[in-house]
Parts: sequence; C-alpha cells; structure tokens
Amino acid sequence: MNPTIAIIGGTGLATLDTLKTIHQETRSTPYGEPSSPLVYGELGGQPVVFLARHGQHHTLPPHKINYRANLWALHRIGVKQVIAVAAVGGIRADMDPGALAFPDQIIDYTWGRPCTFFEDHLTHVTHIDFTEPYCPELRERLIQVACALKLDARESGTYAAMSGPRLETAAEIRRLERDGCAMVGMTGMPEAALARELGLRYAVCAVVANWAAGKAAGEITMAEIERNLVGGMEQVKTLLTQVIPGLKPV
Ligand code: HPA
Repeated sequence: MNPTIAIIGGTGLATLDTLKTIHQETRSTPYGEPSSPLVYGELGGQPVVFLARHGQHHTLPPHKINYRANLWALHRIGVKQVIAVAAVGGIRADMDPGALAFPDQIIDYTWGRPCTFFEDHLTHVTHIDFTEPYCPELRERLIQVACALKLDARESGTYAAMSGPRLETAAEIRRLERDGCAMVGMTGMPEAALARELGLRYAVCAVVANWAAGKAAGEITMAEIERNLVGGMEQVKTLLTQVIPGLKPV
C-alpha cells in the first residue's frame, strides 16, 4: 500500500537519512516533472514518502520549483498528509537561528509562479477557502510533540513568502515586520495553496537559518545559513521520527 504521509524536504534536508528507504520512483505529471524522485520508505515504523523540494542535489532555486508537479505527484499516489520542512529567516525577536517554527498564517508576496490547479478547462470558477492556510490538527500534533521533546520551538507566526532567489533588503524586512510577519522564506507559496486545492492536510515545520536582513549586524552568508541549518535539521529529524507514528490516518 502506498504511504499516505509525505515529507517535503527543503534547504538542509535534501535527503532524509532517518528514512529506511525501500525504493525510489521517478514520476511525471500533467504539470511536468516533480523536483525529485519520490523516495518511499519507513520512518518511525510507518510508510512515508519523501520529496526533495530543491532536487536531490539541491539545484532548483525557489522560483524554478515545479510546485504543481510536486503536489500533484504526491496526491496521485494517495498521500493525504504533508509535512513540509522549510528554511526561513527570523524577523520576530524570538525567531533566533536554529529554532523550529510552526507558522499559522501566510502572506504571499510571490509573483509569476503558476499558483493554481484551477485555471484551464474549467466548468466553473473555483475559489478555495484559505482562512487557515495550514491544517490545524497537523500543526497541533507537530507542536505537541516538539514541546514534549523539549525542542526549541516557536508555536505560531506569520510566514512571509517572497519570490527570491535573492535575500531581502533591510527595508523589505521592515515592511514585512510592519505587516506582522514573524519569519520569511521563499517556498511556502504556492505550495500551501496547491495542497489545499488538492484537499491535502498540510503543515510547515520551519527552521530558522539566519536573522532576516537588517536584524543582525553585517551581511547574511550562505556559510552562516548552512551552519544554523545543521542543528535545526537534527531537531526536525527527531521530531519527524516521533510525530509520524502518532498521526491518525485520514
Ligand atoms: N529570507 C528568505 N528566505 C530565507 C531566508 C531569508 O532570510 N533564510 C532562509 N530562507
């Protein structure tokens, strides 16, 4: 039987070494190729499928990711719940590098990305409800387990989705802060909306990789981001192994 739980790995999590891999499958979809093969395996004793959002060798920048193909491929094999792991920059004062964050809202500042499955050959125009962009039950479960494990977790915050691939200016971050954003990333949209369009339960576990532009002295370097992601991703792996066995089938 195909897994109903998927993990989408982001920067710092191109492979999941805690997954007991069974096989890999390259899929194509009506929207094109997903970012990576689907890796089927077992985590915490449960069947799980893993997809590397930026490709298995981390070669796809955020604006080149085929979000529709990724979500479609997962949906097509029978996935019902998606835990998406993503690196973010910290804006709110408690979003220090290395922490985990479970966003509860999104503001979408991206542009030019194919962002819906509902555009061609429609019999009627469809608007999905997106009041709560993340699945509350899945978020709650992730937070409960993260707290029980005493991980360094932030339980809420608005995720600002930027197009990238460049990082932001200090003025842009000040604007996001005025808008109420707690963290900033480049891959949260349209991924979350596409998951909702397909009826998937979807939640994000973010890892704070750096202070957002202007929030700490000096430039943001890739070396700093990579360094902070190492510890953060170890927390993510611990969390995933503990959370997956307890997820109720949908
Ligand atoms: N901005 C946008 N995306 C990011 C950042 C950032 O500072 N860090 C990691 N992903």
